Amino acid sequence: MNKKKLGQFFTNPVIAEFMVKLGYSDNVKKVLDPSVGPGVFIKYLNKINSKCEKTVFELDQNMIKLFKENVNDNSKIINSDYLKTDIKEKYDLIICNPPYKKFQEIDDRKQLIEIFKNKYSIKMSGYSNYCVYFLIKSINELNINGKCVYIIPYEFLNCGYGEVIKKYLVDKKILSKIIKFDNKIKLFNDATTTSCIILLENKNNENVQFINVSSLEKLNLIWNDCNENNNEVFLYNYKELNYKEKWSKYFRKKENYLNNDNFIRLKEIARVKRGIATGDNKYFLLNIEKIKKYNLSNCVCEPCICKSSDVDDVIFDQKKFNELKRDNKKVFLFDGRNSVTKSDNNYIKLGESLKVNKRYLTSHRNPWYSIEEKKVAPIWISVFSRNKIKVVRNEMMIKNLTTFHGIYLNNNDDINILFCYLLTPISHKILYLNKREYGEGLDKFEPNDLNDAIILNLNIISADDKKKILILYEQLKSKNVDKVITKLNDIFVKYVNDTLNLD
Ligand SMILES: C[S@@+](CC[C@H](N)C(=O)[O-])C[C@H]1O[C@@H](n2cnc3c(N)ncnc32)[C@H](O)[C@@H]1O
Repeated sequence: MNKKKLGQFFTNPVIAEFMVKLGYSDNVKKVLDPSVGPGVFIKYLNKINSKCEKTVFELDQNMIKLFKENVNDNSKIINSDYLKTDIKEKYDLIICNPPYKKFQEIDDRKQLIEIFKNKYSIKMSGYSNYCVYFLIKSINELNINGKCVYIIPYEFLNCGYGEVIKKYLVDKKILSKIIKFDNKIKLFNDATTTSCIILLENKNNENVQFINVSSLEKLNLIWNDCNENNNEVFLYNYKELNYKEKWSKYFRKKENYLNNDNFIRLKEIARVKRGIATGDNKYFLLNIEKIKKYNLSNCVCEPCICKSSDVDDVIFDQKKFNELKRDNKKVFLFDGRNSVTKSDNNYIKLGESLKVNKRYLTSHRNPWYSIEEKKVAPIWISVFSRNKIKVVRNEMMIKNLTTFHGIYLNNNDDINILFCYLLTPISHKILYLNKREYGEGLDKFEPNDLNDAIILNLNIISADDKKKILILYEQLKSKNVDKVITKLNDIFVKYVNDTLNLD
């Protein structure tokens, strides 16, 4: 099996040492590492106490060889699948960097879900990452007062499949600390993911500490500073934890915006929907050169923004579109339903000869060469971002692919006010409370992350300020955009109640 199939990403020694210190105490007699790899945790453990009884699991023979070379101790090595091995014993310390695999890569997913339902009374989501199966199993192998230390992708705290896991942790009151690394820290060389360290303690915990770590050097400061007076540590009582919500909010000061009339959720005034998915961009996206080559009629060429990088300006109009067209960018979508000429029909036949009609999305469309029915969105917002969210006013009113989500207002009266607000850094700060983190500073929004995101209630803006905002909107077309956005930001910041305490 290859490295990816086995989820082989190795723990940085600084982190490994920290994790051992976090879990170890004089009461620790029996230790388990469910996915040992080269054995970095056992190596550090032996430095503190080499007398513990250690059991380690590893699937890969090559890793076992490495482990033996590296560690060379009396650990009991089990060369089998940890998830499929019945363990009757209980451990005082379970320490693990589990293999990380997306749900699509787990071959025996259905079987695992069934085992977990019967054995641990948990209905795992089919979308679960492989690593959370390890976590749940380990919880059930802990001695009373035992500790479990995992390094695990942070994503499960904020995404759908994590809900049952969070519920499990909350119901058992087993969670004691979550230490979150800043997503700019690259922990694993070839994995794009933000990680966190989780400490579970098998006793009735009352509170959970949520800790931010901004650099690896700061990790060791946690020993001295781990209390609620420290900026980086936020203490929440179990009663305050809601497993149905994203947990990124617990890594900040408690927010009270939800009972503040100055804020609403975006979905109260608009709907965010994903853009069009073609099912085969190579076939459906067209530039002028391709349109000429196949002699396609205007009727089958629907203007569409396909790549976020094609849009540099905050306002997209006919002039910008013409520039892209002239530069031979792919800014048309083939829509075979409107085909009128022989050449149009030939292009459909070409698609069939290339088996475009047999692809997943096209085979579910009728006819396969139609494009998804979606209303044109007046505002686009980027799906992925780094620090700054790209927001574009689609003045030309053309379609967009999934590179952007579309924002559709219930009532278009305030459309340019909302757009101007969404351009500002203050709005991004608040929207980002609902983001998903992809590691290395890359953030993502699914449509519902934005639907649920908080925005300023536009109704509280005075008529005078609205006038000023609309004048600034016009200036976005001609003046220095950054300067105009700064002016807009100044207006909106006034309204953002400082009780939010976002800093
Ligand atoms: C993320 S690596 C961590 C290795 C090491 N503990 C570390 O922290 O550097 C996970 C290890 O688990 C092994 N592995 C993958 N699936 C496994 C399974 N089902 N049971 C036991 N080990 C497994 C992989 O071969 C890999 O060495």
